[in-house]
Amino acid sequence: MIKILFVCHGNICRSPMAEFVFKDMVKKRGLEREFHIESRATHTDEIWNGQGSPVYPPARAKLNEVGISCAGKHAQLLAKSDYKDYDYIIGMDGENARWMPRILGGDRDNKICLLLDYTDHPRDVADPWYTGNFEITYTDIVEGCEAFLDYLKDEGVL
Ligand code: 4NP
Repeated sequence: MIKILFVCHGNICRSPMAEFVFKDMVKKRGLEREFHIESRATHTDEIWNGQGSPVYPPARAKLNEVGISCAGKHAQLLAKSDYKDYDYIIGMDGENARWMPRILGGDRDNKICLLLDYTDHPRDVADPWYTGNFEITYTDIVEGCEAFLDYLKDEGVL
């Protein structure tokens, strides 16, 4: 079982999109039993009295448009204990990359990475909270998830 945790600032746009796109991708390849996949936030902006917001409506709409449901997902905060529970902890941008080791207590086992580092053009996933463009974010995420899956095959993990 390969345990994957996607991480972004609020856990309402990018990391839930990555979580559900990657779940869909592995399901379509008949690999869902090989994986446990979740997502988390580095910040509490979308967590109110312990209750996380649902996936942001335009992000949910983009997923629904391509036949992917994210029903039931609510924002959850990244916790130090997640470090031992996951094999790959995958952020979306440079800001996440700075926060993840602070929250997780370092990165002794080199589990922390950024999604688009697996592609031929490493860069931040476009942040739709600021760009308003969920299409580009979705395209970035699909590119990153496909590249990550290829990486796992090339490394012999899958
Ligand atoms: P996400 O988007 O990190 O992709 O979920 C954001 C959501 C909320 C905020 C920033 C980014 N915020 O500052 O509240």
